[in-house]
Amino acid sequence: MDKFKITGGQRLEGRISISGAKNSALPCMAAALLTPENVTLHNLPYVRDIITMRRLLEDLGCTALMPELRTLNINASSVEIFEAPYELVKTMRASVLALGPLLARFGEARVSLPGGCAIGQRPIDLHLTGFEKLGAVVSIESGDVVARAKRLQGAEIDFNVVTVTGTENLMMAAALADGETILNNAAREPEIVDLAELLNKMGARIEGAGRSCIRIQGVKQLGGAEHTIIPDRIEAGTFIAAAAITGGALEIVNCNPQHIHSTIGKFRDAGVKIEQPNAFSLIVKAADHTKPADVTTLVHPGFPTDMQAQYMALMTIAEGTSVITETIFENRFMHAAELLRMGAKIKLNGRQAVVEGTEKLMGARLQASDLRASASLVLAGLAAQGETIIDRVYHIDRGYEKIEEKLRAVGAQIERFRD
Ligand code: EPZ
Repeated sequence: MDKFKITGGQRLEGRISISGAKNSALPCMAAALLTPENVTLHNLPYVRDIITMRRLLEDLGCTALMPELRTLNINASSVEIFEAPYELVKTMRASVLALGPLLARFGEARVSLPGGCAIGQRPIDLHLTGFEKLGAVVSIESGDVVARAKRLQGAEIDFNVVTVTGTENLMMAAALADGETILNNAAREPEIVDLAELLNKMGARIEGAGRSCIRIQGVKQLGGAEHTIIPDRIEAGTFIAAAAITGGALEIVNCNPQHIHSTIGKFRDAGVKIEQPNAFSLIVKAADHTKPADVTTLVHPGFPTDMQAQYMALMTIAEGTSVITETIFENRFMHAAELLRMGAKIKLNGRQAVVEGTEKLMGARLQASDLRASASLVLAGLAAQGETIIDRVYHIDRGYEKIEEKLRAVGAQIERFRD
């Protein structure tokens, strides 16, 4: 298994470029199942989850060709299998995004029901009740979700919890339903807007993506389209944290600052200087003295849960105490125990972490537990005195494109090795 070795204490300086958003690319790839025509996606990040989703599409019978790096031509004209097996779903929960498109286009889908994961139980009950509202018959058979419908019928669906992939799954299914579907209390993340843009290019009639009420007029069929995936807002936020925690200065390019208002605002509260010279870049300079600033994770446009771990890493070296409240997932503080091993002072109390800043973190041997937790350990390692070894970096490879190469290019001492 790959590991990272980080020698901390280097100030990061230079320019770093943001890759395409994994969490936008995954639903957009699944959307290609809705049409027999070609869907071409550009700016895909070169990360493990994208490779897994490509494999899922190919297993279903799609062709997925890569004419150049970061571009994929997907053709789902000869799909004959409507099933995402346990082996894939257990490695990537986003496989459930195949449910909506398969059900809508072929009237049948079987996807292994994902279990809990490192950050929480993560049920998909809202996806399933949504499909039922659209007229599907849904059952659980031998651990799989089986959904069937001759043709989906538009309906009004009220989500009692805001769900990102739930909104995406229902939006894709409703695009091919008969009549109008209204999604109330829908997620408003930029990834929802990106998916809706792709679907509309394919001929869907979706209005309101990015707001909490989305209206979808179903169409008989969808066609091919070409689309460029938005930049990864969480990767951008992670590099803001990298500049901040190393006392460094980074120019972050090919990002979309509009997507990360709340992240930028929170790092500014901590004293980080962030300028936005144009619509696609940021200039970040660390604070002379990092200030403690409380944060609560919220659905978009609030502070993202996917930035909570990285922000906590910064707060471990702030000059004072901060309170971090996680409201989205019930078990997303796995990184705290590892940060403690580096000398951080963190007390957990249910969904709250009280972080008392310390002058210096110390290098240690650490275990990555999930994608964003791993990112926070890398950040802490960059700031720590001495050497940090991070085990199980496959977690980070799921969603960060060549993070060690990007960090090395701006002055970090980080190496990948295997023993
Ligand atoms: C998406 O997960 C992202 N994944 C996550 O990114 C992200 O952390 C999360 O949204 C929140 O922003 C992808 O886009 C592929 P949810 P998702 O459904 O859609 C509850 C990363 O590191 N819920 O919005 O699975 C759920 O338990 C990852 O890149 C139900 O109760 O998250 C949670 O408490 C990790 N029933 C809350 O809603 C449901 O049917 C939000 O989850 C669905 C969700």
